[in-house]
Amino acid sequence: MSIQQDNIKKLVERRAAARLGGGAKRIEAQHQKGKLTARERLSLLLDKGSFEEFDMFVQHRCTNFGMEKQHFDGDGVVTGCGTIDGRIVYVYAQDFTVSGGSLSKTMSEKICKVMDMALRAGAPCIGLNDSGGARIQEGIDALAGYAEIFERNILASGVIPQLSGIFGPCAGGAVYSPALTDFTLMVKNTSYMFLTGPAVVKSVLGEEVSQEELGGAGVHSAKSGVAHFAAESEQEGIATLRELLSYIPQNNREEAPEVPTSDPYNRVDDFLNEIIPDNPNQAYDMYSVIGSIVDDGRFLEVHRDFARNIIVGFARMNGRSVGIVANQPKVLAGVLDINASRKGARFVRFCDAFNIPLVTLVDVPGFLPGTQQEYGAVITNGAKLLYAYGEATVPKVTVTLRKSYGGSHIVMSCKQLRGDINYAWPSAEIAVMGADGAVNVLYAKDLKADPEHAAEIFEQKKKEYVDLFSNPYQAAQKGYIDDVIEPRNTRFRIIRALEQLRGKRQDAPARKHDNLPL
Ligand code: HXC
Repeated sequence: MSIQQDNIKKLVERRAAARLGGGAKRIEAQHQKGKLTARERLSLLLDKGSFEEFDMFVQHRCTNFGMEKQHFDGDGVVTGCGTIDGRIVYVYAQDFTVSGGSLSKTMSEKICKVMDMALRAGAPCIGLNDSGGARIQEGIDALAGYAEIFERNILASGVIPQLSGIFGPCAGGAVYSPALTDFTLMVKNTSYMFLTGPAVVKSVLGEEVSQEELGGAGVHSAKSGVAHFAAESEQEGIATLRELLSYIPQNNREEAPEVPTSDPYNRVDDFLNEIIPDNPNQAYDMYSVIGSIVDDGRFLEVHRDFARNIIVGFARMNGRSVGIVANQPKVLAGVLDINASRKGARFVRFCDAFNIPLVTLVDVPGFLPGTQQEYGAVITNGAKLLYAYGEATVPKVTVTLRKSYGGSHIVMSCKQLRGDINYAWPSAEIAVMGADGAVNVLYAKDLKADPEHAAEIFEQKKKEYVDLFSNPYQAAQKGYIDDVIEPRNTRFRIIRALEQLRGKRQDAPARKHDNLPL
């Protein structure tokens, strides 16, 4: 064997060893837990044969607690570059088979390298997390490594899309980087996110809690809102990450890819002319409106299980990516509350940062009143959604289907928050409040003064109010909405509006940065 052949043989052997991470036994244990390895995940995520790995031979430099005797090429994370549907992405996947995917200083250097490359190249960065947090043996070096990653997450925010998959138990620092990224996806039953696990919770608070109850996918996708997606399996989760990326541009200077569709742009749907019930207190399902107006009925919902009184997600209209925000009359009558406002605001800001036009479908009776909401700062949280819409400069097309009352009318992309084109259905009711509330306030004295005829007075005044305000024409007469449209034409009208707005450019006054009400 020549020297060259021997060198190549050694390279092949070393690569093969590195690909085994923590070794066959630990890979087997990972599979036993129903989890894939870092490399298996990447091969599902990326287009076949597109992955180029970096830093395969990097090893940690720790000498504490006998660590100098334990070296694995790659040091617990697989990093590199590949394509998804032919578009470049930078990736890292933590390898739980090496020290539980815990973060060493060298692991952080590998991750920072791909983050820097992604930012320079203007391409998305996707992290697949499966990590016990800071590598305990490395002490402050591991903490410094996390801080390096967080700083890059912050600098890249709003410049390139950053997606996080949670594919195992993620603790400590391993949860803060995902929290700084745009979207977090968890897998049911195998992934967890917590600052610290059940054992520490028990010792500090005496509270007995399982991993699932503390930080499972159910908790974070439905209760805390930390996770935007909860997948049934790793395979489904990875497919969702691929699909999500298809709606998003490579960076903040580009537009999302257009996807040709056979769904006619001028398709009308007579069903929409019938969807609003005669009784204003009766609900209908906003999902069927969304399904009717978007290309092929396809809608990728974000935060599906969290604050279900508002719906947000991505779709295409005539091939162009749009962000849909819609009140859901079927849940809490579509009222805005703390969580709905947070959910909506985060989504609106993402779309605005990445040039994705916003389509808003309004049927909102108001903000949820009461002590629980006030103590939880519904004022500050509601202001987030208001702020997000008011600062957004992407094309904003709004359709009011039915109720649009008071503060919630303003918040949901009204004209004066720089809404570009605002339509209303003939069923729209745009007013300070609903008829019952208004009559009770305006005629309280009259109703009290004449209890015998109170019901009669109430009905008469209510009719006057309904005739005046429970329609879209007050707003239309004043130009606060641009047109009253037939519901069945909604798809066509939105698509045409988006076309009119294709070249929209709008700036904000110069400032260091804004001061969003956090
Ligand atoms: C070093 C670690 C480790 C860590 C796990 N391992 N976490 N090694 N540092 N942080 C090692 C284990 O010793 C074990 O090594 C292997 O990884 C697998 O771990 P297991 O415990 O056997 O696996 P499992 O039962 O699945 O439990 C996983 C786990 C648990 C829930 C993640 O390991 C755990 O609770 N780890 C500590 C989590 C934690 O509190 N992290 C916070 C760090 S502080 P062997 O050799 O036996 O295979 C932090 C601060 C940053 O991150 C804050 C920034 C804001």
